[in-house]
Amino acid sequence: MRTVSELLDAHQRDPTRLLQLLRDVQAASGQWLPPRVLTEVANGLGLPRAHVEGVAGFYAFLHLEPVGRFRVLVSDNITDVFAGSHDTLRAFSERLHVEPGHVRTDGVVSLDRTSCTGLCDQPPAILVNGRAISRVVGERLDAVVACIEAGTPVDRWPEALLHVDEGIRQRGPVLSSRLAPGAALRRVLEQGHDARTKTLEAARLRGRGGAGFPVVTKWETCRTAPGDSVVVCNADEGEPGTFKDRVLLATCADLVVEGMTVAAHCTQATTGFIYLRGEYTFLEGHLRGVLERRRREGLLGQGILGERGFDFDIDLHLGAGAYVCGEETALIESLEGKRGVPRHRPPFPVTNGYLGRPTIVNNVETYADVAVVFANGVEAWSALGTEKSTGSKLLSVAGDVERPGVYEVPWGVTLRDVLALAGGVDARAVQVSGPSGELVAPFEFDRRLCFEDLACAGAIAVFGPRRDLLEVALNFARFFAHESCGFCTPCRVGTHVAARSLSKLQQGRGSSVELTELETLAHLLRDTSHCGLGVMAPNAYRHWLRKFPEDVRRRLSASFEPSFDVEAALMNGRHEGARR
Ligand SMILES: Cc1cc2nc3c(=O)[nH]c(=O)nc-3n(C[C@H](O)[C@H](O)[C@H](O)COP(=O)(O)O)c2cc1C
Ligand code: SF4
Repeated sequence: MRTVSELLDAHQRDPTRLLQLLRDVQAASGQWLPPRVLTEVANGLGLPRAHVEGVAGFYAFLHLEPVGRFRVLVSDNITDVFAGSHDTLRAFSERLHVEPGHVRTDGVVSLDRTSCTGLCDQPPAILVNGRAISRVVGERLDAVVACIEAGTPVDRWPEALLHVDEGIRQRGPVLSSRLAPGAALRRVLEQGHDARTKTLEAARLRGRGGAGFPVVTKWETCRTAPGDSVVVCNADEGEPGTFKDRVLLATCADLVVEGMTVAAHCTQATTGFIYLRGEYTFLEGHLRGVLERRRREGLLGQGILGERGFDFDIDLHLGAGAYVCGEETALIESLEGKRGVPRHRPPFPVTNGYLGRPTIVNNVETYADVAVVFANGVEAWSALGTEKSTGSKLLSVAGDVERPGVYEVPWGVTLRDVLALAGGVDARAVQVSGPSGELVAPFEFDRRLCFEDLACAGAIAVFGPRRDLLEVALNFARFFAHESCGFCTPCRVGTHVAARSLSKLQQGRGSSVELTELETLAHLLRDTSHCGLGVMAPNAYRHWLRKFPEDVRRRLSASFEPSFDVEAALMNGRHEGARR
């Protein structure tokens, strides 16, 4: 086991590596960070101790209090819940003799819930010491309990138990690509700058992480900004219901890294990062292997493919359980070793990003698409999709479908087509793009998935005829309340108030007062939040209120009316005061 001092040296005593260092120190010092360790880290990096403690306290997977030697976290994502994750939690609680939220008295095991783990196609999923385990019911649950009680370190658990299925259901140009490493890069080197820009323009490629920003605009702004550019791959994939980036990184990592290297050439970047969500540590070894092999093949490092001055390398950073770090400026803060609090914008990362340098942040799939565009040519790419949404899209389909998994479809397919493919034709609602996306009702199933109509970052969560959509809305609202970084008051408080109002409706104690409060909160959050998390948080319930009025009416308590009207009372008081 390495000492704190050895780990500090391994991280070059570099403050920007604070998060990575804390992850390693915690793993070495028994799953938590005792006060003396924080002091040693602070001294070793020359940082104020309060800063180090502040960073450690921000991330859900770093612990300032003792936790069990085995830390079991059960996914609380709604598709896991509908697949029985509450039963899984109860079974662990009974079999391991520990209450959720507690550590067993012998210190061996602690049990809790966690946000989506990115295994929604294989529910119910859990994390044990950060290692993702799928389908934890029946014999697989027995096996987890047995391994914990035997004290077997997680990396020595049976391979079959740790195995995560690939999960590909339908391939398109990206998932079926057999691109030889370096092939797209060679094409890029053959073209001059103008031809490369033309290729990107003609492909009309837009980012796959949600906002759909044109790739060429972002890259050109970065290239022309003063300073040494940085290329970042956003592999934080924290939106509940999304797992297509997991599949891409597991099966097509070369394609993603190739796209990043193309980006480096186009933006003249020398530094690259893959920011991998903490839940995907099982991919860490694989990704480091791919990066190392590409260095040996001359596809990363100094003088890539023999081209003088084409120097670029990629470092792998791991997150630690903070959804907000998927937001690009929060991600950059996290890469710099800080709390993942979103920055003020402008300036934007393309001119002032990582350590103030011009930085592009793109989604995993965006980089894979770039490699395919350059390898197969613009015509093949634009032959698929629609006018404003060219090419293909990877969808993570989960929930009440016969065939959950990743489907690569041409942009422009209808939601009904997707449901038919996955076997979910009797759906009563579909959540598109996760909790921050849109709840879609059956009367809209002919809408097309594309930027012109129903934009989708990747998640398609299907809810069958018997599902309670209020339970879905409440689950999402609690997710946002949990994940709010707390920087601004509307989001920090508003997300909790929204969850409380929905909870009252669920308990049959809700009235029109709660509905009005939810609408008011939706406006407040949208208009005053500092970042996209707060702006999109009301999407958790807004569409349910609008599109399922019968459902909403049924949940209102007929008998309950508030006995005390604050506004009326204040108004009376004001009149009284005026009279005196
Ligand atoms: C709260 C929040 C979470 C986000 N999470 C992710 C994420 O996990 N992956 C991602 O690619 N983009 C995420 N985004 C969007 C990023 O900020 C950014 O727009 C994206 O990485 C840009 O890549 P693209 O242009 O290739 O889509 C998130 C945004 C917000 C507001
Ligand atoms: S909107 Fe929410 S997540 Fe975003 S900065 Fe404010 S508190 Fe943090």
